[in-house]
Amino acid sequence: MAINVLVGLQWGDEGKGKIVDVLTPQVDAVCRFQGGPNAGHTLKFNNVKHVLHTIPSGIFREGVANVIGNGVVIDPVIFKEEIEKLEGADATIRERLFISKRATLIMPTHRMLDAASEAAKGKAKIGSTLKGIGPTYTDKASRNGLRVGDIIGDYLPKYEKAKKRHEDMLKRLYDFDYDISEYEAKWHEAIAFLQGFQLIDTEHFVNNLLREGKEVLAEGAQGSLLDIDFGTYPFVTSSNTLSSGACSGLGVAPKQVGEVIGIFKAYCTRVGMGPFPTELEDEVGERIRQEGQEFGATTGRNRRCGWLDLVALNYTIMLNGATQLAMMKADVLSDFETIKVAVGYEIDGKVTKEFPFELTDEVKPVYKEFPGWKIDVDEVLTTGKLPENLQNYINFIEEETGVKIKILSIGADRKATLNL
Ligand code: GDP
Ligand code: IMO
Ligand code: MG
Repeated sequence: MAINVLVGLQWGDEGKGKIVDVLTPQVDAVCRFQGGPNAGHTLKFNNVKHVLHTIPSGIFREGVANVIGNGVVIDPVIFKEEIEKLEGADATIRERLFISKRATLIMPTHRMLDAASEAAKGKAKIGSTLKGIGPTYTDKASRNGLRVGDIIGDYLPKYEKAKKRHEDMLKRLYDFDYDISEYEAKWHEAIAFLQGFQLIDTEHFVNNLLREGKEVLAEGAQGSLLDIDFGTYPFVTSSNTLSSGACSGLGVAPKQVGEVIGIFKAYCTRVGMGPFPTELEDEVGERIRQEGQEFGATTGRNRRCGWLDLVALNYTIMLNGATQLAMMKADVLSDFETIKVAVGYEIDGKVTKEFPFELTDEVKPVYKEFPGWKIDVDEVLTTGKLPENLQNYINFIEEETGVKIKILSIGADRKATLNL
């Protein structure tokens, strides 16, 4: 009768898509509650990789409802492309997909505003995915958004009004050159396509499921350190990525939330700009990038790599109220001689375990070292027995966080997952 929430505890790309896919057989519905096509969630099964941007990661399992909630921002063009790819393999997909009328639409001019804002910031740019996320949430907050429910009727007057306002900004504020004519034509076509889907009041749909005693899983996008309130501001996204965002992004009450599954990599990555205390800008970082194939699922950009940061992890566990943890990509650190973990930050000569207001260059991680492990994935999956050094690493993280690691992932495939 509860809604369980899965959230990334780092800077995104923790492996949320994989674990949602793994958990889907146990649930009746999977719901996205925030973010949009800035997300890239990868699933792997039957030797095929799928990357989802807007569509929830429960979509591949028949009999499971997939909900795009009110907190999500949707680019119809990207949505259409995604659906067409999926429907090539399974035409029943649209029967199990439900989209909130209250979700906000990303317009072509939002993408231009994102690009213009980044260009104007110069060296101080955020490194956004350029999908129009920030400008769309800005319009939502300033009560100018175009919503999915609007396209049920004649949306053109609202669209044109918003477009005009965006054009003024692009010209007067940014003096930005652009041509959206091609994308705009595709956008209107994609709106017609979207009109053929189940556009509903998902807050009633989800609450009815809960009332009927059904299991619902909320799928977070991005990561806690990209949260608009608690992330490394201003280098964040424009939504609340924390578990609390599931309530406002779906219309469920806090008392309905059951388990909060916090997901993290055995190390850390970040795409885009912004502080990253444990970043490794050396051959060790490059080795993690190669072993972990740390390249963006949405933009293809190199992900910055570094050691696990327990100060940040404890902070995000607190903010989310994580009741259990999933540790990902333990296989990637196989064969490393030594593995480091930040257990504190030294700031002005003092060591703290508390995540500060700002991560300036003055913040120096204090490391504890662990001997590396060697992992034979097939053997571990058959025997369920972990290498001793990996078990010690897990024990240490559990002691430091006070939360159990219940899921361990040792490969991209659905099957390379252990319940601890
Ligand atoms: P998400 O955004 O949180 O869903 O994560 P992404 O899909 O952007 O990035 C995670 C990447 O790691 C994907 O390429 C996954 O296929 C891959 N992956 C997930 N879990 C594991 C794991 O345990 N080991 C390895 N080697 N790769 C994994
Ligand atoms: P998933 O769901 C990693 C980052 C961008 C940029 C910042 C702001 O796959 O984990 P935005 O386009 O949201 O305005 O960009 O946030 N970012 C992500 N990084 N994973 C993501 O999603 C991300 N979504 C946004 O790189 O630094
Ligand atoms: Mg991703």
